[in-house]
Amino acid sequence: MFVRSEDRDGVRVITIDNPPVNALSFALCGELLPLVESAGRDASVKAVVFTGANGIFSGGADVNDFNSEPAPDTRTIRDVIAAIDRSEKIFAAAIEGNALGGGLELALACDYRVARANARLGFPEIQLGLLPGAGGTQRLPRAMDVQSALQMMLKATRLAAAEALEKGVLDRVVEDDAVGAAVSIVRDGAKRRLSERKAILPKGVDRLALPFVVSQAHKMVPPEESGGFAAHKLIDAVEAAVTLPFKYGLAREFRLFDELVRSKPSIALRHVFFAERELNKIPGLSEARPADIARAGVVGGGTMGTGIAICFADAGIPVTVVEPIDEQVERAKQTIFGMYAHQVQRGRLTQEEAWKRGQSIAFTADYNDIADCDLVVEAVFESMDVKKEVFTKLDGIVKASGVLCSNTSTLDIDAIASATKRAERVCGTHFFAPANIMKLLEIVRGTATSMQTLATAFAVGRRMRKISVLSGNAFGFIGNRMLLDYAREAVFLAEEGVAPYRVDAAMKRFGFPMGPFAMFDLSGIDVAWHIAKARPDFGSGRTKILDRLYEMKRFGQKNGVGYYRYDRSVGSGREPIRDESVEALFAEEARRAGVAQRSGVTDEEIVQRCVYALVNAGALLLEDGIALRPGDEDIVYVYGYGFPPHHGGPMWYADEVGVENVYAAILRFKEEFGPHWQPARLLEEIAEAHGKFASSRHGDGSEQSRTTEVNVAHA
Ligand code: 3HC
Ligand code: NAI
Repeated sequence: MFVRSEDRDGVRVITIDNPPVNALSFALCGELLPLVESAGRDASVKAVVFTGANGIFSGGADVNDFNSEPAPDTRTIRDVIAAIDRSEKIFAAAIEGNALGGGLELALACDYRVARANARLGFPEIQLGLLPGAGGTQRLPRAMDVQSALQMMLKATRLAAAEALEKGVLDRVVEDDAVGAAVSIVRDGAKRRLSERKAILPKGVDRLALPFVVSQAHKMVPPEESGGFAAHKLIDAVEAAVTLPFKYGLAREFRLFDELVRSKPSIALRHVFFAERELNKIPGLSEARPADIARAGVVGGGTMGTGIAICFADAGIPVTVVEPIDEQVERAKQTIFGMYAHQVQRGRLTQEEAWKRGQSIAFTADYNDIADCDLVVEAVFESMDVKKEVFTKLDGIVKASGVLCSNTSTLDIDAIASATKRAERVCGTHFFAPANIMKLLEIVRGTATSMQTLATAFAVGRRMRKISVLSGNAFGFIGNRMLLDYAREAVFLAEEGVAPYRVDAAMKRFGFPMGPFAMFDLSGIDVAWHIAKARPDFGSGRTKILDRLYEMKRFGQKNGVGYYRYDRSVGSGREPIRDESVEALFAEEARRAGVAQRSGVTDEEIVQRCVYALVNAGALLLEDGIALRPGDEDIVYVYGYGFPPHHGGPMWYADEVGVENVYAAILRFKEEFGPHWQPARLLEEIAEAHGKFASSRHGDGSEQSRTTEVNVAHA
């Protein structure tokens, strides 16, 4: 049973109870529809109030249902809403917690809406590559003004109860009993408002201004092929709400939704949604009890240490930063002050809250001040000797139960842990820069890392609102390891005569916010040079281009020249400007190294070489048990490296293109470009079985899981 009902003074209260989020599944709607219809026929029922169990009204339609073609007798939320429209009774929604997507559409179809102060109302469909498809695009512009409604749906904004009341979406906000308040409204002489609502025109519309509003909205969202597919259709649907009678507007919305739900971008975005929710499903993790973290420490107050300290402060965990150099402390304090001032200026934080958070970050030069911390994150220079020295010191000073984490981006966690006598309480926590902005956190499991340590790291990640992905202990972990092969192909292309700006343009057209060369300039060519020197086995190009750029101090954005030029007097100063001298440098180095110049390289080849390099590296990491699931790698790439979410991540994209096609292309590349294109064994197995990465499972990120059996399901 997904719904239950009880009568209160002639009011039928229908409770939606489908844990955890009261998703309005087809099965639930199959039960809800007859309840609405029978209430309509029952003379003793004057009105109906909908509410949700589990502290939530509803998280919307069940996204799982979208993957299968509904049977002819399937009932959906559209059928329930149509029954409400036909009924003579009065309807109200009593909202507690979230009312999202189809849940908000159900509420908007009612005559009255009452919410508890904790309610949140929104249409997140756009994040799934959809638009509200049960009347939301037609009813929201009738409940609030059209422009705000359009923006709310395009940005997937969730309105707090007070704001929704102010905008006219809610009729009343109460402190506690929303059901009681809704019952008393509909019982005490309330009138039906539905037919009136459908007939009236959307609010705040100047019909003459509409074409301008619509064309501006189309300009504001990305082009259809670069992730804006659903956004343009959403704008069309809202335009229909103004230009067409309700019935026809609704029909337009249904048609557009039905088109989107079958579209590749939406299917990919739904994969991202579920992959994100799979991340913490790690064998043994839910049974482990995370340690309580009341105080944290950070060692190193540089770029990363400062950002990590802000993450702790934002999570409500007081933090002490150990930083021996006074100028670094000053710089860190200025960064923290500037960041909180900006938050206050943008209205995101109150002055008081910002002050409180700033005060919860302390600085010291003395390690003894972090002795009683429950968890410490080290963020000193990327040098094994320095890290080992710091960990030995921490082991001697921090209380025995304290968890010690390293923010290293490449180094061996086991080697770092070996400097302590508590290897089970050591793990990697690899934040991405800027640490307080980027959502991704790689949690790295060493050979000895205990489940409790992992559970603690995941719990801290959750408190920081990070998206935490488990990685095994391998050079570069998941993200940077895959990046190395992506970077290699980008550089190889440039060595073959494809200008960096062309490589970047092709990858941007594919949907990346920036191309690989602009990204190298952002992260620093000096950083890449150091990594290449430390690990020459990972290849750093066939030529000496990196050495040349390093010698020329072309470090990237930080000093205004890298693969591109940057002109501080133009705009933000961060716009890459094509630099033909770098193209000439590539040509010169290629000649020296005997790399043949090619012409006629297509955008398709550029995208294939860069993206398939990610796929092959991803397959190797799965084979080795470093990544638990292909979906985890997709999440790392979408949230850490800007992989276009409408392509679902590199591994999802490979499934979409067909793994056998990717494999065949990689064999061709091997033939043409050399043995570095050796396909991963897993890729070959899946290709030969005509399978998909999505239906294969490989390990749990532990050392033991590396010789896993590959379970390839047929597509
Ligand atoms: N359909 C199916 N499953 C859903 C779901 C949905 N709409 N929303 C959440 N879930 C599942 C999650 O997959 C997860 O499952 P798991 O426990 O097996 O991993 C579980 O519910 C809990 O989800 P969260 O971990 O996200 O729980 P939170 O408490 O952190 O967040 C939430 C709850 C705010 C409701 C969040 O889950 C959310 O934002 N959900 C998506 C809402 C959404 O996109 N709704 C629109 C659906 S499309 C629609 O309604 C079309 C309509 O217009 C016709
Ligand atoms: P940074 O050079 O900006 O800061 C390092 C800080 O550590 C300096 O302030 C230095 O004074 C301090 N320090 C050095 N030795 C110390 C010691 N023994 N005790 C206390 N403090 C000490 O370096 P950054 O960029 O913050 O990097 C730190 C770590 O984070 C490195 O391991 C790096 O690989 C990793 N990382 C860096 C990213 C980036 O984009 N900068 C991204 C992800 C990880």
